[in-house]
Amino acid sequence: MLPSTFLKTSIALLAAGTLALAQDEIPVGEFASLTGGSASFGQSSHKGTALAIDEINAGGGVLGKKLKLIFEDDQSLAGQPATIVRKLISQDKVVAVLGEVASSKSLEAAPICQQNKVPMISPASTNPKVTEVGDYIFRVCFIDPFQGTVMSKFALSKGWKKVAILTDVKQDYSVGLAEFFVKHFNANGGQVVKEQKYSTGDKDFKAQLTSIKVTKPDAIFIPGYYAEVSLIARQAKLLGIKVPLLGGDGWVGDSLLKVAGTALDGSFFSCHFSADDKSPSTQGFVDKYKAKYGAVPDDMAALGYDSAMILAAAIKTAGTTEGDKLRVAIGATKAHKGITGTITLDEKRNAQKPAVILGIGNGAFQFVETVAP
Ligand code: PHE
Repeated sequence: MLPSTFLKTSIALLAAGTLALAQDEIPVGEFASLTGGSASFGQSSHKGTALAIDEINAGGGVLGKKLKLIFEDDQSLAGQPATIVRKLISQDKVVAVLGEVASSKSLEAAPICQQNKVPMISPASTNPKVTEVGDYIFRVCFIDPFQGTVMSKFALSKGWKKVAILTDVKQDYSVGLAEFFVKHFNANGGQVVKEQKYSTGDKDFKAQLTSIKVTKPDAIFIPGYYAEVSLIARQAKLLGIKVPLLGGDGWVGDSLLKVAGTALDGSFFSCHFSADDKSPSTQGFVDKYKAKYGAVPDDMAALGYDSAMILAAAIKTAGTTEGDKLRVAIGATKAHKGITGTITLDEKRNAQKPAVILGIGNGAFQFVETVAP
């Protein structure tokens, strides 16, 4: 064989080899906070996502190919989502991106997905700005104008008319949810008696809580994440604050009650899912999740699962992984029977879904009600 022919044959073989690999697997990207301050978010959403991908592959995959989940840890750090998603798109050539839970993290990655025409589905980011980034950005959860209204109505229904607010200024989620809560609360006879702020990672909230205490609120709305909320609850108790604390889905995290103990007794928050829901689909999911991970799934796990299932269904409908066609198919998702409810994506690429209100008593969660949009 002449050297040049040999070279050509080798190149052809190499190319064929690469193609063969690319042909039987569809790379799907995921970015999550697997470590760091909000590790509970990423650990759970990733487990739910991976469970769905395994199920899809066990059932033969999509378009005759297996899905390959390529995931990266953003360590709960600002700046990481952008770097990771660039890598997933340019190096791993993912056809879509799943993530994140925290809205600020999704907001970092979304413009990159949009520019590269790679669809992104956030399982759990509820701030409205996330999907406003563009027509390649979707979510499978409800949004905060709804969640804020749900908690404002709940407070008013309990007769809690004077509420203080404690917001995490480092999180778009927290700032947004506070704003939507206040808007509804003020317009419906409520009065915000004090607004205080903190930053993700803070450990001492006594100054804010002391200035809240003197205003004698009926309740305190804390639209934060579980790590800080659990410390806030303990310090509120130490300061003799006895009124209920109210919050949103960001309270969900494995250390919330471990750290707060009984300090959150009498408090309420809104979220997406209750593992106590007796419906066969919820219980089926709970069983599968327990069998695989030895733990009860939480909201982020259920939403992660739903996000991956919706992506797989859309790849099937589109019949291709081409970005623009896949985008159209995801956007056309209608009445998808998810674990977190029936999911129809609207023209703004958001899901209209019920919220669940949970109460806390004796250091444990208690189902209160489901609120439809
Ligand atoms: N909704 C929160 C956000 O947008 C994230 C979250 C969802 C946290 C579900 C816990 C459970 O930042």
